[in-house]
Amino acid sequence: MTAEYKINRHTYDVLVIGAGGAGLRATFGMALEGLKTACVTKVFPTRSHTVAAQGGVAAALANMGEDKWQWHFYDTVKGSDWLGDQDAIAYMCREAIPAVIELEHYGVPFSRNEKGQIYQRPFGGMTKNFGEGGPAQRTCAAADRTGHAMLHTLYQQALRHNAQFFIEYFATDLLMTDDGRCVGALALDLQTGELHIFNAQITVLATGGYGRAWFSCTSAHTCTGDGDGMVLRAGLALQDMEFTQFHPTGIYGSGCLMTEGCRGEGGYLTNSEGERFMERYAPSAKDLASRDVVSRSMTMEIREGRGVGKNKDHIHLHLEHLGADTIQEKLPGIAETAKIFAGVDVTKEPAPVLPTVHYNMGGIPTNYHGEVVQLKDGNPDYVVPGLMAIGEAACVSVHGANRLGSNSLLDLVVFGRAAALRAREVVKRDSKPEAIPEAAIEKALNRFNKVHHARGTTSTAEIRLAMQKTMQTHAAVYRTSESLVEGVNKMKEIYPQFENVKIADESLQWNSDLTETFELANLLACAQVSITAAENRHESRGGHAHENYPDRDDANWMKHTLTWLSDDGKVTIDYRPVHSFTGTDEVEYVKPKKRVY
Ligand code: SIN
Repeated sequence: MTAEYKINRHTYDVLVIGAGGAGLRATFGMALEGLKTACVTKVFPTRSHTVAAQGGVAAALANMGEDKWQWHFYDTVKGSDWLGDQDAIAYMCREAIPAVIELEHYGVPFSRNEKGQIYQRPFGGMTKNFGEGGPAQRTCAAADRTGHAMLHTLYQQALRHNAQFFIEYFATDLLMTDDGRCVGALALDLQTGELHIFNAQITVLATGGYGRAWFSCTSAHTCTGDGDGMVLRAGLALQDMEFTQFHPTGIYGSGCLMTEGCRGEGGYLTNSEGERFMERYAPSAKDLASRDVVSRSMTMEIREGRGVGKNKDHIHLHLEHLGADTIQEKLPGIAETAKIFAGVDVTKEPAPVLPTVHYNMGGIPTNYHGEVVQLKDGNPDYVVPGLMAIGEAACVSVHGANRLGSNSLLDLVVFGRAAALRAREVVKRDSKPEAIPEAAIEKALNRFNKVHHARGTTSTAEIRLAMQKTMQTHAAVYRTSESLVEGVNKMKEIYPQFENVKIADESLQWNSDLTETFELANLLACAQVSITAAENRHESRGGHAHENYPDRDDANWMKHTLTWLSDDGKVTIDYRPVHSFTGTDEVEYVKPKKRVY
């Protein structure tokens, strides 16, 4: 079988998979520490999905009014609906300040305030004085192209520090020892069709989210949960997969993102009666309540017959009152997006918007050093040797049940750097990585061969569409017991169809049919554990709004869900405790209370 494939072998200290913001920050951080580092990425680095992040990166720089990282910490704990680990949140919010200054020094072209400092705008759920002092201007912005600016700068730094890139290589599986240590990964060079076995002391998964499991999302087509899929196939658990973020302002129809910065700059939402309805749902924060709250409010308006448009099925986002000059200066990208994807001139008329899948709070469980952790022999914080995860692929957990806008770009750089700092300590310099067992290579090659030669009767696109429609309908903004059970049952029928998938194209070079089929396997795995975990959680918290259990239930459910997936699609569930300590005396534990905005 293997004679069919040309196989190349590589040895590195560190293998990073993914070249978005987190992957790039980790890659050059590792290289900077003198570690021999390879970065494998399925798209050219500057095309990674981080490029699409618009509004900004949160840090309490206090350039636009008083601010403190402790306030940022409080807002993030509250935003997470008390599912976030408070030690990890404290680490992220404290490190945010040096991380953003570092980005500025690396060359990110941030917008400027009148004093020449980094410009900061208000974002949802970001407040002063532990929620008592009104909105904080904390989100550091490069107009509405912050992710784009950061990604290009981080790639430049990676080139400067001589990291080695394997561009347009698709990683298919982790390579694990029998006793559960990660020793590398198998990847396909999409251009040549050759296979590459990477042997490394540490493998870092920075593969992003799995938004494409839904029919409508703001995520790029490349967001297919590849790292999450690899972890599940390695027999490891994912965490909190029931928590999905709907961004309130995806463009109606296409799902393209209209940044929360629109509302940060003074934009607002109206229903068919022209009413600014957020005043009823969140009297204090109004349109700048956290995303789960705004998305639910919009959904309620539509359900109660106050949606706009012919079918009364969406909401209006107004920017006209800001004036063309402000829009051109602060929000040039979304003006263009609205024109192209909605045919709307936002200086003159409202844009049609709808809550759209945007971010996966769940993912690969890690500690705040980026090390993958699992529940093992009663220890909830067992570190998996040789494996790290960062960025949206990971669940640190700093976002808990709901992420605050602009904490994602922050998470990428803070934990990308943290992973490099940890690697500096654990990599044995001048030592080779542990050899990859032949059985592990054979297992990965067998799976590759099976997918490559899949000649069933159902196309990749058909299975994908069935999954996307199921997730869209049953893992929605609001969930009910009935709808979730139906969704789980549908996924039980869809998941096994992969065994009968048909690949039409035999070749190995630029075979998008083959790549999409590998991606589908990862999406199906993510969807299967996500909907099962959602059906299992009998409460409402953050992005999981369960209509049969409308309240948060801390006594029974303040815990992280762990999900394992067997080869035949069965999901096993267990739990890890939420960290109720901050790990520092610079900030106090925030006790759970009712979450109102
Ligand atoms: C946005 O600009 O609204 C998206 C950025 C984020 O999700 O943090």
